[in-house]
Formats: sequence, structure tokens, C-alpha cells
Amino acid sequence: MKTLLDRPAPTAAADLTLRRGAARVLLDNWTGTSTVPSRTLYPHQWSWDSAFISIGLRHLSVRRAQQELESLFAAQWADGRIPHIVFNPALPHDAYFPSPAFWRSSTAGRTAGAPAATETSGIVQPPVHALAALLVHRADPDESRRRGFLARVHPHLTAWHDYLLVHRDLGGAGLAAVVHPWEAGTDNSPSWDTALTRVEPIAPDTFRRADLNHGQPTDRPTDLDYGRYVRLATDYRTAGYDDRATRFAFAVEDPCFNALLIASEYALAELTAELGGDGGHHLHRAATLTEQLLTRLWDENAGLFKARDLTSGELVDERTISGLVPLIVPHLPQNAVRHLEQALRGPHFAAPGTCLVPSYDLTGHAFDPQRYWRGPAWFNTAWLVHHGLRTHGLHSTAARLREGILTEAARSGFAEYIDPVTGDARGARNFSWTAALALDLLSSTGAGAGLEEAAALREAAVLPALRTVVKESPA
Ligand code: SER
Repeated sequence: MKTLLDRPAPTAAADLTLRRGAARVLLDNWTGTSTVPSRTLYPHQWSWDSAFISIGLRHLSVRRAQQELESLFAAQWADGRIPHIVFNPALPHDAYFPSPAFWRSSTAGRTAGAPAATETSGIVQPPVHALAALLVHRADPDESRRRGFLARVHPHLTAWHDYLLVHRDLGGAGLAAVVHPWEAGTDNSPSWDTALTRVEPIAPDTFRRADLNHGQPTDRPTDLDYGRYVRLATDYRTAGYDDRATRFAFAVEDPCFNALLIASEYALAELTAELGGDGGHHLHRAATLTEQLLTRLWDENAGLFKARDLTSGELVDERTISGLVPLIVPHLPQNAVRHLEQALRGPHFAAPGTCLVPSYDLTGHAFDPQRYWRGPAWFNTAWLVHHGLRTHGLHSTAARLREGILTEAARSGFAEYIDPVTGDARGARNFSWTAALALDLLSSTGAGAGLEEAAALREAAVLPALRTVVKESPA
């Protein structure tokens, strides 16, 4: 079994190779207006992927990073939702399932405000976007101001958060609920197993999965999972994607989703102030959400956050990465921070084969080191935990995690996720957010990069070559 101790210490040359590799992935996966998560498995634009991608892309081209977010916002629905997929009309319908012909957003979603000219999915993904927009702005504030970036994205971000806080407060306590496992981003997490038993699966022979053309069946959700995902999406579509009219068979308050909303509310407060407005409303919302996150989702005995199933009203008794991501929330009580740090070091999450954080409890009854969100370690969640550790001044743990992310990104060929026991790469390779977030950590200590760090990266000889390819012209 490999451990971090077996690996050579990183060198400047290794870092430069990694930077170049990461930049290459982002260049190859750029479509002209946005970045596909993977050329094979996910060939369209995905919502939270684009947010993470823009965080890395800002180190290569601030303009591209802005475009990444703005192309996504262009597909926002009139009710404020940012769809989880924006489809590329140039691709054949069977390139991905469920395709535009399944979602039928421009017709079934018309009353809810789906765009007429762009096909999208009808569900959402975690709200990382305001945080991403702030980081893109910070990468070059002068350029951002000159191009009016914040003024353009601000209305999209406020409408997005309003949608979540008004239409998705299904529990009535102020937190946003997700109505499909894909919305949480952690599709087949064991946290959803019990809730999904209430969902009648659609027969597998009535649809054709595209993911298995590119992914190993053992790395992916099962056919039974898919039958249930399709049922939930079909029912939502039948109700016109109307949150008031739909009888949701699945409705859950997820800690990761809400923690990202809190971090993004803080970011929105800063964006508002940068535009000369008063960000107080967003600060207040962030504080109220934090209170509700602690009241409704904190499990003191387990020492982490858990999801709340709104059908049973109960906390879901599973330890998952989603329960640790709230470390990114700035004003957590010290007690919670201490517990979360302990959880990272303890038997449930300290993985033998990697410094990344497994998606599910290593000792849990449903642990599977290969299968998507039932055990493998992901790079986006590791980046979020790293960001959280730094937020709370836990710099040495953060530094170890940073080193782990960079080592594994290089070793795995920018894999989508890795086996936390063996460290083996799983899922897609040349995965955009893995490359983008590795680049972010290489370019800075992560999440806080300002002009100086961006300038240091340019000097590292990546950008001159890249600019030739990007062919940036003055706006
Ligand atoms: N993550 C889902 C998939 O695997 C949907 O976004 O396709």
C-alpha cells in the first residue's frame, strides 16, 4: 500500500510539470464558451463544475474564468434557478443521459422560466458560484472593474440565492432543500439510501445510460440508483419543475449544499460592497443560515454535520464528506471546528492510501472504495476542506491536505476521484475541476490568490505559452 511517506518531496520542476499538465487539461476541455468537466463522461456544461473550474482558470485567463461563469448564468431560469446542466446543441442527443429530450426544459419548464433558446436540465447543483465569482474578481480586480464583471454577475447571483432561500425552503426553517440526489452533487451517497427506498424506480429497459460507455460499472451508480434518479426527475418535469406543485418524494437538507450557500452569501456581501452597495442583508442571511445549519444539521455525538431527511424529519445516520465541508463556514463555534478537525484525523476519514478525504465513512456499513460517492476521495471536496481549514487557522492540517491534493492530481492523471485505500485513480481522467483546483493550490495557498500570486504564476512560464493558444484580444 502506498502512503504519502513513499513519495518524493515536491520540487519546483515537479510543480511546473503539474501546472503545465493542469493548464493542458483546461485548454483541451475548453469549448469556446465554457469548459466540459470531461470530454467523455460529461460532455456538456455542469453548474458546480464550472464554478470550481473558474477558480483555477482565473490563474490562466481571468477573461476565460469570467466567461465560464457568465455562460452558465446566461442559461439561468427566470425563477432564479441555475440549471445543473447546460446542453451543447452541437452534440448528439445520446452523448449524455438524461439528454435535452428527457428534460424538455424549454417546453416543460416554460412556466417556471426556463430559457427558450437553450436546453438545460431542470434541477440545480450546490451554490459555489458567488464564492467563485469573488475569487475570479480578486485574481485581477482592475481588469474585473474595467470589464464590469461584478455588475453583470451580481443580479444573477442574488436571483439564484433568492430562488434557493424562497422556493427551496421546504423544511420551513430557512435552509435550502435538495429534491434530487444529483442536486447535492453526491449522487449515490449512502446518506440517500433510505430516502430513495421510497422512490419507485423506473424500469431500466425504458432508458439507456450513457455513462457506462465511458465509465467502469464498478465506479458508477447502479441501474437501480438510475431508475430512481429518472423517476424523481420525471415527476418534477411532469409538474412543470414547479416547486410548489411538485410532491417531492425526496427532499433533504444537505450540510455541504447549505455550507456552500453560506460561504456564497458572505461572498455576495463582499461583491455588493465592492459595487458600492450595502452587503449587510447578505451578512445577516449568512449568520441566520449558520444558526440553522447548527440547529438542524449538527450532530454533537458524531462530531459532524448530517443531512436531514424532510420526509421522516430525522437526521440521516451516516458520516459523509458532506458533514465535514461546513468547515468552510467562517463563524462556526470553536467546539464544532475542533470536532471536525478530529474527524478528519480519526478512523472514519483518515484514509490509508491518500491524504484526501473519503466521501464516506471508511468504517461505514456501505463503504465501497470504488463506487462514486460511496467511498472514493474527490478533489473538489478536498479543496473545500482545505479552504475551511485555512479559514479557521488550521494551517498545518491544511498544508498536509494541499500536498495530498497536488500529489494525487499528478499521480492519477487528474482523475475524477481516487480509491482512498489504494490511491488508485477512478472515474474519468483529465477531469477539469481536478486540474483547476490543483492549479489554484499551486498558484496560491488556495482560495486567496491575489495579484501577486497570479503574477508569480505568469512568471512560471505557463502563461506566455498559454496566451498564444488562448489568443486573448483586448475586450
Ligand atoms: N453527476 C451526475 C452524472 O453522473 C449528474 O450530474 O451524470
